[in-house]
Amino acid sequence: MDGNGRWARRRGLPRTDGHTAGEETLATIVRAAAERNVGWLTVFGFSTENWVRPRTEVRHILSLHKKLFGRITELNDKNASIRWIGRPFDEPGALTPVFIQKAIKKAIADTAGNSGLVVTVAFDYGSRAELVRASQIALRSAEAITPDLLSANMYDPSVPPVDVVVRTSGEARISNFLLWQIAGAKVYFTERTWPDFNASELDAAIALVNSNI
Ligand code: IPE
Ligand code: MG
Repeated sequence: MDGNGRWARRRGLPRTDGHTAGEETLATIVRAAAERNVGWLTVFGFSTENWVRPRTEVRHILSLHKKLFGRITELNDKNASIRWIGRPFDEPGALTPVFIQKAIKKAIADTAGNSGLVVTVAFDYGSRAELVRASQIALRSAEAITPDLLSANMYDPSVPPVDVVVRTSGEARISNFLLWQIAGAKVYFTERTWPDFNASELDAAIALVNSNI
């Protein structure tokens, strides 16, 4: 989700305040999505490219992920479960710190019984890395390489083909997000920064899925 920094700058606030506001927006949108019977919501929390940001900013974003993965009661209230995609913790080069790994594992375990909305958080995630790994696994199998075989080897193969990608903050790029899964997706662009994203924008994005454009 993009635009936390711009949201803060426009208000004369530190960037970290923008990330804090963005995490609150995510909690709101998760609630709204659950109430609208959305099946899957996959969010780009932190990319493999984001680690080069200033240390204090990275540390702040990490603490917000701990908070996010700690929202177990809210998720259970909405019958929503949490999943995660990203570089596997034991993979060379993977950078998810242990305290986030623990928060992820606990959130997954504590919400696994819920049958509604699946919220998948992409953290230490990059789509090209995901595709390279899927290709390597597929090559090691004796099978012919097919789209189904690659799909089966994504970080979380249960993430279905995406209906709509939401891109906030006036950005027109896809930024290495779910490249394989968005092959047939609509793309909803909005000028709003992520902290200003709201339920009516979510409705507009969902409406795009059923429109003829
Ligand atoms: C998104 O907001 C948060 C992350 C990428 C973690 P940005 O930090 O990219 O905000 P802008 O692009 O500077 O406005
Ligand atoms: Mg940005």
